[in-house]
Amino acid sequence: IKRVTTHTLQELKSRGEKISALTAYDFSMARVVDAAGVELILVGDSASNVMAGHETTLPITLDQMIYHATSVVRAVKRALVVVDLPFGSYQGNSSEALRSAIRIMKESGAHAVKMEGGQEIRESITRILSAGVPVMGHLGLTPQSIYKFGTYAVRAKEQDEAKKLIDDAHMLEDIGCFGLVLEKIPAALTKQVSQELAIPTIGIGAGPDADGQILVIHDMLGINKEFKPRFLRRYADLHTAMLEAISHYVDDVKTNDFPNESEAY
Ligand code: KIV
Ligand code: NA
Repeated sequence: IKRVTTHTLQELKSRGEKISALTAYDFSMARVVDAAGVELILVGDSASNVMAGHETTLPITLDQMIYHATSVVRAVKRALVVVDLPFGSYQGNSSEALRSAIRIMKESGAHAVKMEGGQEIRESITRILSAGVPVMGHLGLTPQSIYKFGTYAVRAKEQDEAKKLIDDAHMLEDIGCFGLVLEKIPAALTKQVSQELAIPTIGIGAGPDADGQILVIHDMLGINKEFKPRFLRRYADLHTAMLEAISHYVDDVKTNDFPNESEAY
């Protein structure tokens, strides 16, 4: 199998083929996601929410991200594996940012890192890029800043925030990021940024004109029934399927149906 690289993603954009991306946090799920042909697998800090049950992405640690990333990398044969630098591991200063990125690359074997923000973290991104680590940007709704925003509502609806986002997007491209996640911004802004940039944009809740799309795997498989924002399309109802299977198992155990003779030694 030919591995997907940052160059592959650039080629896909250049020839107008959309990029498919999903999150994964563990070996078994990553194996399925990779086998299905997804080009980019993100070990997102959304693991804080969907794997650990935290309300926000802030609590997850660098060690925990490395644990998830290591499990994912072991499963993936084709996709590009990108890992989120977690809150607190890169904003403080650029040497700490570099140290965090190097730990991820060395200890997990992942292929790139992703960082939230623009101008504010420019120095940290530059330093990591200088070490030869590919960096993906992330603009718009950046969940590590949720307590600054106060809500998970759509970002950059107003002119000044949209202008800053466009400036940040160009800056990220100019310093050498290989791609950019655009989260929960107006579709028209996504279209403009995606046309102006040469590097691929990957949207979530950002409309149809990003160069690729990403969703949280648990959300798109319908494992979590409560989370239902407008941008989320559910491709399965695994919550129901799993609940039925497990209830059936409980019944079978209670009624002595399981295990039967052929299931015993
Ligand atoms: O952590 C995450 O899952 C993400 C994607 C939603 C882009 O950052
Ligand atoms: Na994230």
